[in-house]
Amino acid sequence: MSETLERWGSKRAFILAISGAAVGLGNIWRFPYVAGENGGAAFLLIYVAFVLLLGIPVMMAEILIGRAGRRGPLQALGTLAAEAGASKHWRWLGLFGAFTVFCILSFYSVVSGWSIEFLVASINGQFNGATAAEIGAGFDAFLASPGLLIFNHSLFLFMTMTVVAAGVAKGLERLNNLLMPLLYVLLLLLAGYAATTEGFSTALMWLFLPSFEAITPTVVLHAMGHAFFTLAVGACALMAYGAYMPEEQSLPKAAFAVAVLDISVALLAGIAIFSVVFAQGMDPAEGPGLMFVTLPIAFSELPGGAFWLSVFFLLLLLATWTSAINLAEPMVATLQGLGLRRSMATAIIALSVWLMGLLSAFSFSTLAEFQPLFGRNIFELVSSIPPDIFLPLGGLMIATFAAWIMPQKRVMKALGAGESGYLLWRNIVRWVSIPLTFIVLLGGLL
Ligand code: PHE
Repeated sequence: MSETLERWGSKRAFILAISGAAVGLGNIWRFPYVAGENGGAAFLLIYVAFVLLLGIPVMMAEILIGRAGRRGPLQALGTLAAEAGASKHWRWLGLFGAFTVFCILSFYSVVSGWSIEFLVASINGQFNGATAAEIGAGFDAFLASPGLLIFNHSLFLFMTMTVVAAGVAKGLERLNNLLMPLLYVLLLLLAGYAATTEGFSTALMWLFLPSFEAITPTVVLHAMGHAFFTLAVGACALMAYGAYMPEEQSLPKAAFAVAVLDISVALLAGIAIFSVVFAQGMDPAEGPGLMFVTLPIAFSELPGGAFWLSVFFLLLLLATWTSAINLAEPMVATLQGLGLRRSMATAIIALSVWLMGLLSAFSFSTLAEFQPLFGRNIFELVSSIPPDIFLPLGGLMIATFAAWIMPQKRVMKALGAGESGYLLWRNIVRWVSIPLTFIVLLGGLL
């Protein structure tokens, strides 16, 4: 486990650390495009409901395990299971989490690399005066160049793994402190601009007026997966951060604060992006390119557009960076827990994620037709199955462990919410979160 993480010095620092993990591609890139493919408002409604009923309670479960165990996921789960007289096999949940974040980081790094490319392109003024069609064609050409994708993927992963190797707390704390408010203000500005476009009212209706026939088991499954993904819950990644939570902090308050921030970032991004989509007569179900095409178009119409677009991509890059660090940390912690040195563990993880990422990078060209499962190529698989299936499955087990296995006294202390708060949480997890996750998973799979 990273020694340096012990320094989450204050309540605020802890909330910022969790927000840094939560706010990332999930909010700004994934939410709009998955909502676009899944009926807009219907998706949003279910996703927000899942954040409240599953995301927040399970986030508390995950963090409190880390807080009670005071170690990396594998060891924390092992110790706590032994203490509760449960099977020591519970600790393999930590390994399952590590596998999940491995898959996620492999595509996350590739897509974050797109932000690097777009940051450089916007600094160079490449979007100045370009039409919507030109910007769209430019993006397609970029995706068809595996060399470029791999270069940016390598750069991003290098950025991430150097921080992880060094140990993350202090730098991350300062970065988050600055980044979150800036990102928020910029998104507010962008949404304000969106309000002046013709697409704004259509975008609002599309995002907030659900048509209930759009709700299918698949939409529900995607919404649940996204709720876990965007909150960074279900892979034992937050568990590691919980281990260093200040003693006197209330976990429910922190979890709520993070969820509210996380949802509002997604909403602002959604409003901005869909206003442009409708103003330009584009297709909301355009797929993973949605944000990368719409935002350059939006900014190119604003005064000082190139400058603001560069600022935006810089902030996005920093936000995905803090999330990627959180994705990598539990894998490194797990290997360290198995006795490896931190530098060695980081190198092994970096190399494996890099190799796995190549498959995603090639999925837009050479390997586009290589569809080993469900008619989906590697990028489509790793960007859907781990978020939609593995995270809820992990969350289900995490919740079961915290609400059924761990002794009440332990949980109550780690939750920091008094007896009535504890009972409320436990009832929600036992009788709502766990059964609901199970049913949706089953329904979606069948
Ligand atoms: N929540 C992150 C995002 O929205 C992704 C993430 C998932 C991070 C799981 C950690 C664990 O970008």
